[in-house]
Amino acid sequence: MERKWWHDAVVYQIYPRSFQDSNGDGIGDLQGIIQRLDYLEKLGVDVVWLSPVYRSPNDDNGYDISDYQDIMEEFGTMADMEELIAKAAQHGIRIVMDLVVNHSSDEHPWFIEAKKSKDNPYRDFYIWRDPVDGHEPNDLTASFGGSAWEFDATTGQYYLHFFSKKQPDLNWENPKLRQAVYDMMNFWIDKGIAGFRMDVIDMIGKKPDEKITVNGPLLHDYIKEMHAKTFGPKDLLTVGETWSANEQIALQYTKPSNHELSMVFQLFFTQLDQYPDKGKFFTRELNVAGIKEIFDRWQVALNEQSWNALVWENHDLPRAISEYGDEGAYRIESAKMLAIMLYMLKGVPYIYQGQEIGMTNCPISDVSQIDDIESINAYRELTQSGQMTKQEALDAINKKGRDNARTPMQWDTSANGGFTTGTPWLHVNPNYQTINVKAALEDQDSIFYTYQKLIQIRKQKPVVVYGDYQMLTQTAPEVYAYTRSYQGQTLLVVANLSAKPQMINLPQYGKQKALLSNYAQGIIDLKAKPLKPYEAFVIEIK
Ligand code: NOJ
Repeated sequence: MERKWWHDAVVYQIYPRSFQDSNGDGIGDLQGIIQRLDYLEKLGVDVVWLSPVYRSPNDDNGYDISDYQDIMEEFGTMADMEELIAKAAQHGIRIVMDLVVNHSSDEHPWFIEAKKSKDNPYRDFYIWRDPVDGHEPNDLTASFGGSAWEFDATTGQYYLHFFSKKQPDLNWENPKLRQAVYDMMNFWIDKGIAGFRMDVIDMIGKKPDEKITVNGPLLHDYIKEMHAKTFGPKDLLTVGETWSANEQIALQYTKPSNHELSMVFQLFFTQLDQYPDKGKFFTRELNVAGIKEIFDRWQVALNEQSWNALVWENHDLPRAISEYGDEGAYRIESAKMLAIMLYMLKGVPYIYQGQEIGMTNCPISDVSQIDDIESINAYRELTQSGQMTKQEALDAINKKGRDNARTPMQWDTSANGGFTTGTPWLHVNPNYQTINVKAALEDQDSIFYTYQKLIQIRKQKPVVVYGDYQMLTQTAPEVYAYTRSYQGQTLLVVANLSAKPQMINLPQYGKQKALLSNYAQGIIDLKAKPLKPYEAFVIEIK
């Protein structure tokens, strides 16, 4: 495979609203990010993926864009954005933008025009259908609840919106819309950005009349066209948010000869505590062994031919420690285990802000504390339909709701965790008194330094980047052990995914010293090695 600059890169996701406020309005901003570039450099990341910073009425916190070529007022100005790109570069950090082109905001001038009349030149930038028997064209539903169709009285037609009704879906069948998107992408590429994270990109080929929402027939044609007309010749990093992609589809997106994307996110693991056919708020006990099964499948499928994206957390998911680890007694051990297990795999690591200091979910006790549109709507639907009591709905939101990861970054023990001098737009997790960046930096044994070390090892050892992957099968279901091998070097990674003590027997590897571990280790005898709760280590096989 041809080498790319992003093969050994580490990406850090910033949710700008919650990262650092620089002007006391309670909302994070671009100048706040600039203030924290030293910190990001210390961690060692190469790329920052910025969740949307474009102009937006914030129905879905920036994922509803009303001007793709301007900056949200609360976040700053285009001059701030240019300064961020330039200053980040001085710290060796490139900027990847979020590309949200499955839909726009209903306040985008395209939609404002489109709504005016059926023959408006922008009408076909969106998806309109006549009523059927006075009703919605069909029973497609929106991710944030209710029908995916909204009636527009002015023109007597329905428009499609797979998210909120303020997020009308764009019509990718229209070549003019596609060209407008490519022009906008090139505007950003010309500003010196390093790539795009593509929001729900698997939906752009939708065929709503046939109720095809993802993986539509022309999806890959559109991505190939986008590649050719925008980032393809520029060698940028592109990563697709593709909830619907299994390994085979992932290969289709990412095989270099297909000229589509650098990588896609594997998000199936997030459903391991859900029922197959119910929404995300109906949970059951986590299938721990499923974690390694899924990661193993993707590692094997993409091993030689393309590239993985390694992710535990983002702004849509609960905090990983809370879901897959232990936010109580083993918070530190389980956080380090999750990092070691994931980031020694083959692929590009994505770290979500606060993950590197072990931030946890932030429980709420009342519906009035929720900001996220998805959770607000789910609470209403689940309680009004009688599927859950109010308390059950709150419990479900505390477990799976998106605000968990959106609470402000915890920098120090000052008011609001040092995030803002004003009133934060979303409550700060009260545990900021103990879990914060300042404390993490002062403790050489903190989760932060495990992340820093993992990044350093990746930079020093090509085996971490390019090594072949193989899972070891002679372990308990809750133990994930694998090797990475490259040019005569082999790494062994062992992770106990559970709180249950375990044992591994790998006599072929003899006695070794750990390169990195989450418990103090002497010489490890792999012939009969007891594993403590969430124990994990990396060994360089001599
Ligand atoms: C995925 C984004 O990550 C999420 O935050 C957003 O609500 C939807 N796409 C719609 O844009």
